[in-house]
Amino acid sequence: MRIAVLNGPNLNLLGTREPEIYGSTTLSEIEGCAREVADELGVQLAFAQFNHEGDLIDAIHALGGRGTAPGVAPELREKADGALVNAGAWTHTSLALADAFSSVKLPFVEVHLSNIFAREPERRHSVLASGARGLLCGFGAYGYEMALRGLVHSLRTGKR
Ligand code: DQA
Repeated sequence: MRIAVLNGPNLNLLGTREPEIYGSTTLSEIEGCAREVADELGVQLAFAQFNHEGDLIDAIHALGGRGTAPGVAPELREKADGALVNAGAWTHTSLALADAFSSVKLPFVEVHLSNIFAREPERRHSVLASGARGLLCGFGAYGYEMALRGLVHSLRTGKR
């Protein structure tokens, strides 16, 4: 089984970016932990971060088996079984991302470090959530581990 972990804009700055909200764990530490969990679960992992929305859309198409995404990393050009997604601020605005997932029918779980429902009104809505298998937020970096386990369990058992 192949899983992609996809991170949206500004998440490359984790560790120093508003640590009182997002914690002090860096994205590369989150990647390391996700790779350990993936090894334990026996799944292959591709991990990436995007500051440009179109690149993420290209990657979703390729991961869904529809497109070659020449501009993205080679490991994102192969079809995946599912994705874990922290779309950052695009979560709240991007119908294009929601459309990308539904267009290629790539199963995904949405994850956020902060509890988006306890934040500013404009962050309390996700345009992705209705298409997601599940949504996990508010547990900081540990949420990636929980969400990855949940996604793999859901894909393996067919249970939501
Ligand atoms: C975030 C929440 C978003 O509102 C914000 O724009 C982010 C990070 C989170 O992980 O808590 O960039 O997705």
